[in-house]
Amino acid sequence: MTQITKLIIYRGSIGEIPRYDEFEVPHEDGASVLDALVWVRENRDASLAFRYSCVSANACKECMVLVDGKVNYACTARLNTGVVRIEPLANKTLIRDLVTDIVPPKERLETTD
Ligand code: FES
Repeated sequence: MTQITKLIIYRGSIGEIPRYDEFEVPHEDGASVLDALVWVRENRDASLAFRYSCVSANACKECMVLVDGKVNYACTARLNTGVVRIEPLANKTLIRDLVTDIVPPKERLETTD
């Protein structure tokens, strides 16, 4: 019998009233939180915003989110069965859903007007 994980995912952008959407995803041994997010986007809601690049290399850090309240890499965090809450980083500026502005201030391009 296929096990299920219920994801509770933060949704919304700056200026919107945030909400949490729930999705039941099939659980596979060894699956990551990122695998579950990709499954949701491919099978349930194509508008879900999250970011990743290197996938499991821990190099890009773009997939950092809060998993059950703790900062974690979605690409390496193992997906538990039961209920898993996924939220954007709390100390970064929210862009949309799970995407935050993670560019360090020193790496921002300065504009000259
Ligand atoms: S996707 Fe690059 S660290 Fe997770």
